[in-house]
Amino acid sequence: MHGLVYHGPGSKAWEEIPKPTIIEDGDAIVRVDAVTICGTDLHILKGDVPAVTDGRVLGHEAVGTVEEVGPGVKTLKAGDRVLVSCITSCGRCDFCREGRYGLCTGGGGWILGHTIDGTQAEYVRVPFADTSTYQIPAGVSDENILMLADIGPTGYEVGVLNGAVEPGDVVAVVGAGPIGLSAMLTSQLYSPSHIVAIDVADARLDAAKLFGATATINNSREDAVEKIQELTGGRGADVAIEAVGVPETFELCAELIRPGGRVANIGVHGKPATLHLEDLWIKGVTIKTGLVDTYSTPTLLKLVTSGQLKVDELITHHFALDQFAEAYDVFGRAADTGALKVVLTRS
Ligand SMILES: NC(=O)c1ccc[n+]([C@@H]2O[C@H](COP(=O)([O-])OP(=O)(O)OC[C@H]3O[C@@H](n4cnc5c(N)ncnc54)[C@H](O)[C@@H]3O)[C@@H](O)[C@H]2O)c1
Ligand SMILES: [Zn+2]
Ligand SMILES: [Zn+2]
Repeated sequence: MHGLVYHGPGSKAWEEIPKPTIIEDGDAIVRVDAVTICGTDLHILKGDVPAVTDGRVLGHEAVGTVEEVGPGVKTLKAGDRVLVSCITSCGRCDFCREGRYGLCTGGGGWILGHTIDGTQAEYVRVPFADTSTYQIPAGVSDENILMLADIGPTGYEVGVLNGAVEPGDVVAVVGAGPIGLSAMLTSQLYSPSHIVAIDVADARLDAAKLFGATATINNSREDAVEKIQELTGGRGADVAIEAVGVPETFELCAELIRPGGRVANIGVHGKPATLHLEDLWIKGVTIKTGLVDTYSTPTLLKLVTSGQLKVDELITHHFALDQFAEAYDVFGRAADTGALKVVLTRS
């Protein structure tokens, strides 16, 4: 079979590799039917994630068909259609029992395409298959369900739920990439009065309007703090969601927020950001951080299946499974290509 293999910073290849086999009793081997690329894969290719080593198959998002299960797997069988989530859960450790699967200490967490071979291949071995995959209801496309492997729960849990969006809130989302757009989409489940998208790219701000933004600010040429103050009668945003991952945008969220408001940080940060406690100590602001846990996946599956959560427009480009070179190129040049999520499907 073939898989997309990482060969150190800047280097990857779609090459012949051995088909995965059952190693642990709880494993499933899943035939990959649809797979996508994450911004995190681009970080890996830049060399920002040293835990990913030469020879690793990339990818942590897929929809597929179960081909074989280990003797310990109870709820899946060959032929089942499943969502393979970015987070694997042992189901037994203290964190998993609190629904904090991203923090799993029993061998799960973010492992696919990170510490074990991932989903950007014709087949993938999924450990703890009972608790790490989701059966897909009939009548919903692989592509739409694929949006719930990572960006759906990430925007919703780490952005909207950590930010505790409430009816009537003014929600500012800094960063209108796939993750920020997912946060805008799922914010609407709580009827905010305004969703303000803030980005430096006009193309991304145009996309934001399709995902529920009621106002947009290009902070490369506009003062976002001033604009939010105008919009809220000088109060500030009730919720500020950071979906970029650079110090400036976290610091901007802390400036946009009203007294008593909530900052939810989603971005993966590689550098320290300044926390201005000299301003914030008196403001009663809550700041939350975290890796996605995917505890909301069953809820989001219901909403996508019923058509209440429209994720279709997140998918901008389609490729065949052996076109990873082209797909990475288009996804990596999102500013020029307008790419949000690219989907590769088996023919
Ligand atoms: N916490 C988690 O569990 C988790 C999971 C997945 C991804 N992430 C992280 O979420 C972040 C967003 O992911 P994405 O895939 O949407 O990324 P992306 O790169 O596609 O989008 C980021 C957006 O931020 C904009 N931007 C850049 N600098 C900016 C600035 N100074 N001000 C305003 N906007 C700016 C870009 O124009 C772009 O539209 C990344 O850091 C990613 O690693 C976190
Ligand atoms: Zn991801
Ligand atoms: Zn666990």
